[in-house]
Amino acid sequence: MEDNCRKGIILAGGKGTRLSPVTFGVSKQLLPLYNKPAIYYPLSTLMLSGIRNFLIIVNPKDLNNFKSLLGNGEQFGIEISYAEQSSPDGIAQAFTIGEKFIGDSNVALILGDNFFYGNSLSKDLLKASKKNKGATIFACEVKDPERYGVVDFDKDLKVKSIIEKPKNPLTNFAVTGLYFYDNNVIEYSKKLKPSKRGELEITDLNMIYLKKGELEVNLFARAIIWLDTGTFDSLYEAGALVKSIENKQIFKIGCPEEISWRMGWINSDQLNSLLIKYKNNEYGNYLKNLIQSKNMF
Ligand code: G1P
Repeated sequence: MEDNCRKGIILAGGKGTRLSPVTFGVSKQLLPLYNKPAIYYPLSTLMLSGIRNFLIIVNPKDLNNFKSLLGNGEQFGIEISYAEQSSPDGIAQAFTIGEKFIGDSNVALILGDNFFYGNSLSKDLLKASKKNKGATIFACEVKDPERYGVVDFDKDLKVKSIIEKPKNPLTNFAVTGLYFYDNNVIEYSKKLKPSKRGELEITDLNMIYLKKGELEVNLFARAIIWLDTGTFDSLYEAGALVKSIENKQIFKIGCPEEISWRMGWINSDQLNSLLIKYKNNEYGNYLKNLIQSKNMF
């Protein structure tokens, strides 16, 4: 698969208050989602979109922990830099914090607590990533739409509006935490005003694109799983899902080294040199087996 020059931002700031007291000591994106740090999953999702250049936005107190885990990204065949979000003033703040990093590129943003999995996912992601103009977002039918940005359609299924956390949702289609934008996102995000909850809302940004006729809303097929892992229950459920899939099939979910190797960003020798870190642990054995089974899949 070819890569592209779109850049990627992972928003991993915030205080994770719903997960306290655990998050008093550690960022929620560094907690284990079954057998990997939670941030491996959104990182993998953006890598599957062909993105190799990342900015990870973190709470200042967590910066060193993220750096210990991910470094400059070299081991994954990617580039990672970091920025701090000292107060969580909304998702759309990512584009002003990341303005220099984005430069004149297009950009994708993923929320650090979002988990995506499914067969046709890579295809959807690559398509969105290759689009040069406008914005692409994804929506998924859920049982609790009032917790999210909710898409409202007209009778021809054309998107009419997106409403942030409506008390009485008009549909069950929640906007997921994965967004692809053209470079205008920097300019548009500067026009935003804080909402009633005091945040620069990603929904307001998406509404700017919608009003210009430049917003594509993709509805995920039912075989694609989207979970937000910001509560104890959802973190536990996502972990249980990864465990049951990985225990049954031979592939791992959310393994950045594997994605990089399959993308051709690191070769087998480079992958092999990473094994030393893992000695005889299961993750290392998995990577070792990949090299041995080369070209089978
Ligand atoms: C945010 C967005 C919301 C989106 C959700 C996805 O919600 O504001 O539109 O549906 O992420 O996870 P928040 O994390 O602020 O509750």
